[in-house]
Amino acid sequence: MNLPVKYRRTELLSKHTTFQIGGLAQYWAEPKDVAQLARLFSWCKKNKKRVRVIGAGSNILAVDQGVCGVVVCLNSSSFTAISKVGRFCLVGAGVLLPALISYCTQQGLSGAEFLCGIPGTLGGAIAGNAGTKDKSIGDLVEFVIVMDYNGNIRKQSAADLDFTYRNSNLKNCVVLQACLKLVKKDKTIIRANIARYALARRMSQGKGWLSAGCCFKNPSGDSAGRLIDACGLKGSRRGQAIISNSHANFILNDGRATASDVLALIRRIKRSVKKRFGISLELEIKIWR
Ligand code: EPU
Repeated sequence: MNLPVKYRRTELLSKHTTFQIGGLAQYWAEPKDVAQLARLFSWCKKNKKRVRVIGAGSNILAVDQGVCGVVVCLNSSSFTAISKVGRFCLVGAGVLLPALISYCTQQGLSGAEFLCGIPGTLGGAIAGNAGTKDKSIGDLVEFVIVMDYNGNIRKQSAADLDFTYRNSNLKNCVVLQACLKLVKKDKTIIRANIARYALARRMSQGKGWLSAGCCFKNPSGDSAGRLIDACGLKGSRRGQAIISNSHANFILNDGRATASDVLALIRRIKRSVKKRFGISLELEIKIWR
């Protein structure tokens, strides 16, 4: 079966996830532009193939057996452009957050510094309303341009998107671009803000590990990390997956962990936190099966 865009059938998802875990994608496609993306979606619909869009793979645990259907990566130049008009930035879905932060710093635009240290793309960050404890990317959004799985493009204002903690209503569509509203500030202040966020993250979460960030969402009014820590689970292992000794809401790939190892730790954490606190933790990371 041939896709209407260039594709590969030997792409390991472990090459594209920050966990460095995951089997083969049945089809891996990198459309060049919006027209190719629309053609791809209509082909998938006609051939009943599931579509999943991957950004930086920073919030995904892909199973070892691999996934069926088409994995779409928006990394071509049409999806990775950034431009600005005054204090508004138009950012492509495939732009990596560190690249966005550098661009904003060069342009003297402040507001996105809190995204420092989050390894995602703009599209993924918006769909999952990524951020810190008190700020989320949704707070910066003026509007987004999305494509639904029929290839129709529409503009949605921030108010339409129902941004809540680590969530938005962007479910049956793919982000193509977002317009972010920022404020003009001196570059020295922006750089100092970035350094402050980077230090706070390094101190609480450690650095240099393979992970998908926080594994669970924080239950209302509490911290999943605190609850998991209080269960004494820091440093627990399954195969080569380990619960971080720095921050208990991080599961780390300590070498050659498999998705099954990580899933076993996820079950262990959920069981312990439920037993000790009566709280059902909800996953923040997405499991791709
Ligand atoms: N804590 C512990 N033990 C731990 C981890 C945390 O006792 O192992 C305690 C801390 O001492 C603190 C409280 O729990 O009193 C909260 O911890 P932290 O400040 O690290 O924040 P968090 O709620 O665990 C959230 C986001 C992070 C974001 C940080 C910083 C979620 C699930 N996590 O973590 O986001 O970086 O705030 O703003 O919302 C992510 O979403 O992937 C992520 C890492």
